[in-house]
Amino acid sequence: MAAEQSAGPLDSAFYQPADTFFPAQAGLALTYDDLTLSTLYSEILPRNASLDTELAGGLRLHLPVISADMDTVTESRMATGMALNGGLGLIHYNMPEKQQLKEVSRVKNHVHGLIQEPITVTPDKTVGDVIELIETKRYSFSTFPVVGADRKLVGLLSGNVLKPRYAAKQVTGALVPRDQVQTIRESQLAADPIAIADQFFTDHPGINKLLVVNDSDELCGLFTLSDIERITTEKLSQFRPTRDDHFRLLCGVAVSTPRNAAGELDRERIESHVGALIERGADVVAVSTAHGHSKGVGDAVALIRAAYPELPIIAGNVTTAAGVDYLADSGANIIKIGQGPGSICTTRLVAGVGIPQMTALYVASQAAKARGVSLLADGGITKSGDIVKALTLTDGVICGGLLAGCPETPGQVMEISGKLYKQYRGMGSLAAMKSGSAARYGHAPRDANRKVAAEGIEALKEVSENLDQLLAQLIGGVQAGMGYLGAATLPDLRAKARYTRISPAGQKEAAPHDVVEMKASS
Ligand code: XMP
Repeated sequence: MAAEQSAGPLDSAFYQPADTFFPAQAGLALTYDDLTLSTLYSEILPRNASLDTELAGGLRLHLPVISADMDTVTESRMATGMALNGGLGLIHYNMPEKQQLKEVSRVKNHVHGLIQEPITVTPDKTVGDVIELIETKRYSFSTFPVVGADRKLVGLLSGNVLKPRYAAKQVTGALVPRDQVQTIRESQLAADPIAIADQFFTDHPGINKLLVVNDSDELCGLFTLSDIERITTEKLSQFRPTRDDHFRLLCGVAVSTPRNAAGELDRERIESHVGALIERGADVVAVSTAHGHSKGVGDAVALIRAAYPELPIIAGNVTTAAGVDYLADSGANIIKIGQGPGSICTTRLVAGVGIPQMTALYVASQAAKARGVSLLADGGITKSGDIVKALTLTDGVICGGLLAGCPETPGQVMEISGKLYKQYRGMGSLAAMKSGSAARYGHAPRDANRKVAAEGIEALKEVSENLDQLLAQLIGGVQAGMGYLGAATLPDLRAKARYTRISPAGQKEAAPHDVVEMKASS
């Protein structure tokens, strides 16, 4: 058996661990393309490298990638896709609070073993009414439990009878009656409802809905065969979705921190909105601003922490150890690092402020280690190799631009000269600030219509492959990086990383060169 090979003195002189490498560069800030990682003896096959990461107690991802809380990146469709792939989406807040609650519900209700509040119809409706309901609400299913005014189960209306020829018939005359509907008592579900439902469907070929009732025969849930099959297959796959204890997808959400007429944080409104988000199932909230090491952000985080002691809170953005300390003291568990690296950011140009990512990540990581908080590298990620480098110092990455061309982002596709594009804009661009994100950049909402300095641009991204395909490429790249370093897990990667700076010629050498490229790699 091959013994683990440790780096010899010559290697160590050239390729150094973070605690030697970064302090030696103090005074010169570095970003992803300024350095590279050296290989190490490996017994790890890339496909066996685990990307699991724990961001806070109870908040565990199978893929350390988070989609940015930007209004051209993450709404429910992107958040659902991210969670299905093992990551997390942060729903943005440039929308009315009520709509944000609905977006969270869409993610949490996406596929879960037990649908706790199935859509029902009443017996007095007609089949035509139900057909109209499906059309107006755009339901993607067509079988409905029928319940009376007393919530007791009356029967099941099957999709087979939802035809225009039966439109005038009353639901009572078209349903499968109660005594022929397959049900299970809530009290029989015990500790593993999915296993019980799975067994039920195996024992009853041809049945694909199982209704759950309580002791008074009131409807309290619904299992569908397709959901159960999906969940049981997921258990076997390496990159399974991130789910909560109730098998619902994880969902993160950014919260704004409004102020009242006196200019103080509007405690009541913030607490009640965060409370409503938690009720809908939100797993983590983010207080996202351009300057996290500021009183307003610290006060907002502290306010949420006091009201919800168990809630994982993401806060940012900072680039200093003192900033990490401040947000940790305020009550944040997860801190976003990045000021100005984003592909649509102009903070460094406009304000002359901000630190290239790898240096910022190293400095922040020292404070994070001491405080026991997690870090997210936010912005500037353009390829899987950047993610590998970021993960040598952090617990996850946030991506905006890299995902912005996916069909899962909000916004229309537009065609320009035969090419397809999607809009991608900074949350500090004038247009986004007018839609609600002005406070994130320290401006009062009304300022957004006055003359203020935008810190982001409006841009286009060429439409890319879908999210599943794009993430599969990124996962493959990150696992390859871990294989080169002999790292089976992300903590291994952090422990083993050895860095060296690269020259401009070295950078040129890293990309395809001196060939005519026929097909771009993704
Ligand atoms: P990428 O590089 O992934 O960056 O496109 C996304 C991150 O950029 C931040 N962000 C901004 N920063 N002005 C800024 O200086 C802006 O208008 C802006 N909008 C977003 C944010 O941290 C995001 O996750």
